[in-house]
Amino acid sequence: RKQLIEDAGPLAEQLANEQVASKLTAQDPTLWGPDAESEAAIRLSWTTLHETSRPLVAEIEALRAELHAEGIDRVVLAGMGGSSLAPEVITRTANVPLVVLDTTDPGQVADALDGDLSRTVLVVSSKSGSTVETDSHRRIFEKAFAEEGIDAASRIVVVTDPGSPLEAASKEAGYRRVFAADPHVGGRYSALTAFGLVPSGLAGADIGRLLDEAAAAAEYLSVDSKDNPALVLAAALGGAHARGAEKVVIADTGSGIKGFGDWAEQLIAESTGKNGTGLLPVVVERPDSPDFSDAYADSTPIAIGEATNGALMGSEGGLGGQFLLWEYATAVVGRLLGINPFDQPDVEAAKKAARSLLDAPKSEPATPTFVDGPVE
Ligand code: PA5
Repeated sequence: RKQLIEDAGPLAEQLANEQVASKLTAQDPTLWGPDAESEAAIRLSWTTLHETSRPLVAEIEALRAELHAEGIDRVVLAGMGGSSLAPEVITRTANVPLVVLDTTDPGQVADALDGDLSRTVLVVSSKSGSTVETDSHRRIFEKAFAEEGIDAASRIVVVTDPGSPLEAASKEAGYRRVFAADPHVGGRYSALTAFGLVPSGLAGADIGRLLDEAAAAAEYLSVDSKDNPALVLAAALGGAHARGAEKVVIADTGSGIKGFGDWAEQLIAESTGKNGTGLLPVVVERPDSPDFSDAYADSTPIAIGEATNGALMGSEGGLGGQFLLWEYATAVVGRLLGINPFDQPDVEAAKKAARSLLDAPKSEPATPTFVDGPVE
């Protein structure tokens, strides 16, 4: 790891000279050059969330108190990927219970329904408001609440982008609360928005502290210096890719931040994996495990061992700081690879394919259609 960081030095210095960190902080879309589809596609509002999300803290805490006063203290989250991984990390690290529904696995759904519904609030989180799995979970819970004689609308809290189909459905059904998200923040960069904060805060995590940690980290992540940990991490990842590495091995060496690897894996994979390029992240729990040797053996990997444990930045960065560190680094890797790190063409294609299956007339055999043609 020491070698890796040393090797990254010259590229980190170059990035510092190009003022990448301060431009990123200033939300300057020209960082992604003329190939960027449009300014709107470069969604950069996540760099200032430690300030803009602050008013949410009191709102979420007030809602939590209100729910507790009604005896509602069990939180179930229906959401996927960018809408579930961050709250999972936040609540697991804070050691507070959150039931997460992020697949259609019948066992997972049955377990979530098995808890005490009279004490349950369902948070439905979806940026697009049209993700099939999340939408199904909402409907399943609506029915389950009704069957128990519980007013479902009073038990559903929604986080979604303004104008989404879910927002419309929530208004029509009169759901308890709708938190409008910022469309200029992509799903996997949304840890410090309502997507990360609402379920975590309702479950009892200290979300004010999370924003404090991010604010402290923002101070040094915005500095154009070769010692800026985000530039070092980006240079390590981008430099390894330039040397032919296609795989990143992320080994969490006991940071105490639970599930962080899964969150970082999605961030790196979806942000860089497009246009025939990218880095494939592989998360291993412990560097001395056989998994780690396997991952290390079959490719030209780089190991980012203790970035979550204070090797690249002081451990005082905390979880809020770590979210920001990895987001900064991933955005800069996008620049180094010459791709837009804020879109997700393959995810969109998969969602359309899932919808096309559901929308097909029942009498005809359905064939999902991807951008590259039908699935055989
Ligand atoms: O990062 C992404 O874009 C995806 O992982 C999405 O977050 C995920 O598909 C969920 O999408 P949505 O929030 O629109 O339901």
